[in-house]
Amino acid sequence: MNLLMLLKVYANNIQILHRHLIGANWLSNHERLQSYYEEVQKCLDDLTELFMSVGYREPSLQESLNYDGEIEIRNRDAEESFTLAQLYFRNLIAEMNRLKSELPGDVVSKMEEYQEWFRLEADYKLKQELGD
Ligand SMILES: [Fe+2]
Repeated sequence: MNLLMLLKVYANNIQILHRHLIGANWLSNHERLQSYYEEVQKCLDDLTELFMSVGYREPSLQESLNYDGEIEIRNRDAEESFTLAQLYFRNLIAEMNRLKSELPGDVVSKMEEYQEWFRLEADYKLKQELGD
C-alpha cells in the first residue's frame, strides 16, 4: 500500500527537518514542523488500522524506505524545509485520490478528513508563505 509507505517515510523525514532546522523565526518554525510530523503520524496510525480492517497489511519500515528513501541528515532553512513538507502533503493528497475507488465509503471519509488538513496546509498556508 503506497500511501502507508509514504506516511511512514514522511513522518521520519519531517522529524529530520524539525531537528535540523536553522535560521530566522527558529522556534515557531521548529514547533510547526513538530505539528506536521505529529499529524502525519496520527494519519499513519488511523489509516493503517482502518486499512487493516478491510484487508490490507501494514508495510514494513524497510519496504517503505525502499519505496521512498530517507532524506539526507543536514541543516536546512525554513524555506527548504517547508518546500519539502509542501511536496510531501501534495504527494499524500494525490495518493489518497488514487485510492478512493478501491476503498469503502467510511474509510474514504476518514481519509478525506486528513486530505482536507494536508490540502489547507499545502495549498493555502504554505502556498501563501512560500509564494507557490
Ligand atoms: Fe523536538
